[in-house]
Amino acid sequence: MRNLMITGGAGFIGSNFVRYILERYSDYRVVVYDKLTYAGNLDNLLDVAQNPRYAFVQGDICDAQAVRETIRRYDVDTIVNFAAETHVDRSLTDPGSFIMTDVFGTYVLLEAAKEFGLERYHQVGTDEVYGQVLEGSSVETDPLHTRSPYSASKAGGDMMVLAYYASFDVPATITRGSNNIGPYQYPEKVVPLFITNAIDDKPLPIYGDGLQMRDYQYVRDHCEGIDVVLHKGRVGEIYNLGTGVETRNIDMARLILELLGKPESLIQYITDRPGHDRRYSLDVSKIQALGWRSQHTFAQALEATVRWYVDNEWWWRKIKSGEQYREYYQRHYAGREIEKK
Ligand code: NAD
Ligand code: DAU
Repeated sequence: MRNLMITGGAGFIGSNFVRYILERYSDYRVVVYDKLTYAGNLDNLLDVAQNPRYAFVQGDICDAQAVRETIRRYDVDTIVNFAAETHVDRSLTDPGSFIMTDVFGTYVLLEAAKEFGLERYHQVGTDEVYGQVLEGSSVETDPLHTRSPYSASKAGGDMMVLAYYASFDVPATITRGSNNIGPYQYPEKVVPLFITNAIDDKPLPIYGDGLQMRDYQYVRDHCEGIDVVLHKGRVGEIYNLGTGVETRNIDMARLILELLGKPESLIQYITDRPGHDRRYSLDVSKIQALGWRSQHTFAQALEATVRWYVDNEWWWRKIKSGEQYREYYQRHYAGREIEKK
């Protein structure tokens, strides 16, 4: 493994992974292949742009020809696929783009991995494919119970990966991560949305009763886990990646306000997300057996994340002041306020 093609590398986790790999392995080269959708942002990669071991290609993972050309040109031996439509709320209004990128796009990359005999194809998956888990924790062999077009599309991608491993011996691995937080996360996702709204004394819109639970992990820990699976994982296998500890949304919101010294009166309850999964929970013993441990508790991860957004207003103000973002925010949040509980 020397020449990595990191699809979706201009997004949140992908860009953190690019930085991580270039720092960790002095002999690895990285080509980011990214369509630059609303979530893709070259500002996320500014600090590596001059690195001679880094290259960027703008392209769609659904475009087989462009994928092949990139593999040939950069002598790619490994694909790590972060490219996806990723926001659950958007999947409720535009499921087609999720099916295209998250299922068909994955198939295109797998075909290329097969054709070029790549050393490894790694799929970055999500804990959402297990569906809501009201009690206990999901293990990798659990059946999938997807409930949103996003999670259904991601499950389709995972199934395609397993099919290419079984049918064509494509050396593939899958990780299923819990909610990431940290630098460069697009402020539609709850944590950066709440932090940046709180900085500006704007309401923090909580869906429903706010008692839903997520396992929020620091993005750097997730990147290290993917690295461990790339180097020590067994092909054909799935690995859960998370802290194994869940937090209620309302408690996460209160902690953000406390860290920023803002009043709880900023919390605004709004109508719930349709089909909102109540709780995800991962059993992470399989990845821990490979020697990986999450290095940040939720409190440490949130504190580091809040600090980054406070220190990097240049990054998020550009996004939030843009017409595309403001139009989305208005369309998605206007008129959803409900009485405070
Ligand atoms: P993101 O939305 O921040 O970034 C996605 C990136 O993919 C963007 O740069 C975008 O331009 C690119 N992209 C989208 N469609 C593309 C296409 N057709 N061709 C090429 N590039 C395309 O996403 P993220 O939060 O960084 O998530 C990355 C991956 O990790 C996704 O596969 C997601 O399902 C998975 N994941 C995310 C989380 C999380 O908490 N964010 C948790 C577990 C798994
Ligand atoms: O679990 C992994 C998944 O985490 C990833 O696969 C997805 O790509 C990523 O978007 C994330 O999905 P969630 O739906 O869990 O994340 P989101 O940030 O959208 O919401 C987190 C929780 O906060 C969820 O219970 C919904 C709630 N929420 C979200 C928003 C945007 C609110 O209460 N208010 C909001 O405005």
